[in-house]
Amino acid sequence: MNETKFVSVAIDGPAGAGKSTIAKRLAAELGYLYVDTGAIYRTVGYHMSLMGIGPRDADGIRRCIDDVNIRIEHQADGLQHMILNGEDVTDRIRTPEMSKMASGVATQSCVRDYLLEMQRELAATHNVVMDGRDIGTVVLPNAQVKVYLTASAEVRAERRWRELTAKGENVRFEDVYTDVVKRDEQDMTRKIAPLKCADDAEVLDCSYLTIEQVVAEMKAIIRRKAG
Ligand code: DC
Repeated sequence: MNETKFVSVAIDGPAGAGKSTIAKRLAAELGYLYVDTGAIYRTVGYHMSLMGIGPRDADGIRRCIDDVNIRIEHQADGLQHMILNGEDVTDRIRTPEMSKMASGVATQSCVRDYLLEMQRELAATHNVVMDGRDIGTVVLPNAQVKVYLTASAEVRAERRWRELTAKGENVRFEDVYTDVVKRDEQDMTRKIAPLKCADDAEVLDCSYLTIEQVVAEMKAIIRRKAG
């Protein structure tokens, strides 16, 4: 059992499954802190791209990781703001390029070690809904509630494509689909902390569920597991 007095809800799953939408809604309804761990990896990726370091440059990433100073601020707008070396980069990390950078830097052990304590500290001091890839398996193995949220690759790519198009980006569905599938593969097959379903997680396939239905299902799981 988790020995802290705080409740942790861990939501893992592949890109575009709707984790952040659901986690944000749940956290607001429960009065918990929402922690988007993907945003932290994206911020590291953004820093590396500023330094001209590619996602597979293990030596460069190791050399630069100590220069990365990340602060998470939960501001009044309800967003998790990412402050990188004193600058708010929240808007700059949500691009297809930064999705690839994040997935790339996330394969490096120096990056994962660096971020692990930050994530655990938040869960040790707050009730949290935390989403990512390795929350239930590695970051918070004692979380009271673990859910693996998934959907078919087609549905996930379509959601991503709609999001990007709504932001005014001119992207082809085929390219978004290819990126989603490649990123899944990289996240699921990396050596350290790959994306997988924890043995004690509930699997929720939301391919044909509305946001309201998923939130309701999640709340039922939380009631069952955490009272
Ligand atoms: O959730 P997201 O799409 O913003 O995550 C971006 C990338 O960050 C994802 O492809 C893999 C990495 N990531 C990770 O390795 N572990 C996490 N807990 C969260 C994200």
